[in-house]
Amino acid sequence: MTLLQDLESRLAAALAASSLGAPAVVTVTAAADLRFGDYQTNAAMVLAKERKTNPRALAQEIISQLQLDGLATADIAGPGFINFHILPSAFAAHTAALIRDPSLGVPAVGAGQTVVVDFSAPNVAKPMHVGHIRSTIIGDALCRIARFLGFHVIADNHIGDWGTQFGMILHGWKTLLDAAALDAAPIPELVRIYREVNAATQNDPSVLETCKNELVKLQAGDAENLAIWHQCIEVSKRGLLTIYETLDVRFDHWLGESYYNDRLAGLVNELLEQGIARESHGAICIFSDGSNKPQDDPFMVYRDDGWIDNPAIIRKADGGFLYATTDLATLQFRIESWKADHIWYVVGVPQQLHFRQIFAAAARWAKTSRFEHVAFGSILGEDRKLMKTRSGDNVQLTDVLTEAVERAARIIAEKNPNLPTEEAAEIARIVGIGAVKFAELSQNRLTDYVFAWDRMLALQGDTAPYLQYSTVRIRSIFRKLDAPFDATAARIILTEPEEIHLARLHARFGELLPAVLEDFRPNLLANYLLELARAFHSFFEACPVLKSDEPVRSSRLALCDLTGRILTTGLGLLGIRCPERM
Ligand code: ARG
Repeated sequence: MTLLQDLESRLAAALAASSLGAPAVVTVTAAADLRFGDYQTNAAMVLAKERKTNPRALAQEIISQLQLDGLATADIAGPGFINFHILPSAFAAHTAALIRDPSLGVPAVGAGQTVVVDFSAPNVAKPMHVGHIRSTIIGDALCRIARFLGFHVIADNHIGDWGTQFGMILHGWKTLLDAAALDAAPIPELVRIYREVNAATQNDPSVLETCKNELVKLQAGDAENLAIWHQCIEVSKRGLLTIYETLDVRFDHWLGESYYNDRLAGLVNELLEQGIARESHGAICIFSDGSNKPQDDPFMVYRDDGWIDNPAIIRKADGGFLYATTDLATLQFRIESWKADHIWYVVGVPQQLHFRQIFAAAARWAKTSRFEHVAFGSILGEDRKLMKTRSGDNVQLTDVLTEAVERAARIIAEKNPNLPTEEAAEIARIVGIGAVKFAELSQNRLTDYVFAWDRMLALQGDTAPYLQYSTVRIRSIFRKLDAPFDATAARIILTEPEEIHLARLHARFGELLPAVLEDFRPNLLANYLLELARAFHSFFEACPVLKSDEPVRSSRLALCDLTGRILTTGLGLLGIRCPERM
């Protein structure tokens, strides 16, 4: 049990024992300002408001009923807040329990629930650009965190492997392909032919016509075009796998858009039969059912001076299906075959309307799951404009990763020139990729963030290298010992304020992690890890470890060990590894 849960259950017991009756929700939160205590509750204020009485008097009554023995003391502040001060002995006991707990105090809030995480999902034969990096890194972190919290996680890469771009790719494949280049680097070669054909269509309408015919043949099941399409998917996957390997990202499934092709016609008929969709100008569309206010209705839009229909099209007049049709088939499959209790879509802000429509349509279709669009903003260059290369193209993900590793290598060579070449290269990979991931994950995902190399690689700063370096420092303490250290055997004694603060933060890990998934904010975890590392450095400066006498020495070593475990685990949940040395 976390300290917070302990306080909440004691508070609930006190309310039950009193004549007050419990308010709808009893919540205890970590105090924002440590001068007022470790935790606080506004229960008295909530209750007083319900019954229109004096909150301070009510708070007094609650405190007189509270059994806090051995855990904390309580006092009243301001208009009726109750502040809790955890006793150092209670922090010590809690720390001792955390040391023995493989899950570091993190509760299994997700036990028994299945969540499908839909992330990365690049489009075949188009390069993965830095926008996809956000989806890939955030999605992977959410998968890792959810797994640690006990959810059954299914990571699904819903790649865009079907669509109008294949008309151009097929034509390019037949007329422009350089087989050797394709073999050496598949994605750039596919992108090259796509670009060339695309440019040719601008000048020559007959090329566009040829591409359209290739697409129609593919959709009709033409053997040659299908074979080329298959090969395109295979080589693209090969290219993508190299990137995912560099990023240390894995998927349980790669069910791309094409996987659902066979289901689309039946789905449209079903929605027609159920009256959820109807015909309009030859197309099949989902319109508003009038159950929401127009401002909350994804099928209405405000234009000029009134609300007008904004339907989701699921079959075009020419019979073609759309992105929305595939997404409806996909969610049905995930709910029925995988029993998904939750489905999280990690996709940029521009697709917000699409997901609102899909979720609303699913509800009318009685396909239930807890849907979340985990949206994110854009990545900006240091000039605060959308990140582009010098030639004006979108920056490609592989180039960013290569540069990150090269820059990290230079920093490491400067800091520690005596490392063996192999090890230095491995450290550069861990540090460079870690820096890119942490820069992403320490931001609020909805704000646009500025991609600044020097800032993300700084050894002193709010960066992955700073945190990785902290874990390396902790390891080096243990390297100085003659025998392996067993933290579980140590008696924990907390007297110095720096020791107590470190223990306070250790206890917070298990409270914070479930909150990360409440609004999908990995930055809460990232910022917590920075706070923990800073607290560790203050502790290490103020409190001698190896030079103190027993039993304090073992107690402090155990604090170092636990800090190291939480930092490494926490970084691991963000998909960031830690080197042995740096
Ligand atoms: N392929 C899409 C894109 O790059 C993202 C797909 C997201 N997932 C989904 N189920 N719609 O924009």
